[in-house]
Amino acid sequence: MQEKLDEYILSHISPEDDYLYRLYRATQINLLRPRMASGHLQGQLLRMLCQMIRPQRVLEIGTYSGYSALSMASGMGEDTELVTFEINDEQEDFTRPWLEGSPFPPKINMVVGDIFSILPQMEGKFDLVFIDANKRQYCEYLDLVLPHLNSGAYIIADNTLWDGHVVDPAYDNDPQTKGVRTFNDRIATDPQFEKIILPLRDGLTIVRWLK
Ligand SMILES: C[S@@+](CC[C@H](N)C(=O)[O-])C[C@H]1O[C@@H](n2cnc3c(N)ncnc32)[C@H](O)[C@@H]1O
Repeated sequence: MQEKLDEYILSHISPEDDYLYRLYRATQINLLRPRMASGHLQGQLLRMLCQMIRPQRVLEIGTYSGYSALSMASGMGEDTELVTFEINDEQEDFTRPWLEGSPFPPKINMVVGDIFSILPQMEGKFDLVFIDANKRQYCEYLDLVLPHLNSGAYIIADNTLWDGHVVDPAYDNDPQTKGVRTFNDRIATDPQFEKIILPLRDGLTIVRWLK
């Protein structure tokens, strides 16, 4: 049933941009763990969120093949910038050409390295952050990015239902599940965040920072 519904949804939303379609295919064919890429359904949502929020500067934690970065870029306007961090330098040869060949408006800056050591030295603030990296460190990413956000900024976090493990006691000692639960609890209880969790794919949390 879920598979049929997924097919139904995909056949009733805007079609995938050709550049993104080709990137998704190349990701599936050439990379290990291609399931990490967002895909069309989530990509279309990220694109529309960017069209609605109209961020001047976007920060992404976790580039991988560039699919989510380019999905967001496809919804951004002229004279905007997207900075995306990827810690795995082996990813660069595949991803950088896709980002540099982007047909979308923003200036895209792929930073290869650990965001914890590089972001603190960076100038300028962001209007939207997409967190999609190591699940054990979601709370640390949150603390890291807050000083770099404009007031009213949005934080989007992927995989916040973690395949349902967040409510499964069998995963109580799993470090990734613990990381996601800690992040969800922090967001839920902190009044400086307005929040919603969408049960899309693996769970997508959208937060508005009320500062
Ligand atoms: C799930 S993948 C990203 C998928 C991509 N956002 C998409 O939806 O198409 C997570 C990526 O985060 C990267 N990553 C993990 N820890 C990181 C860190 N501290 N700084 C930057 N990137 C990191 C991993 O190497 C991996 O490529």
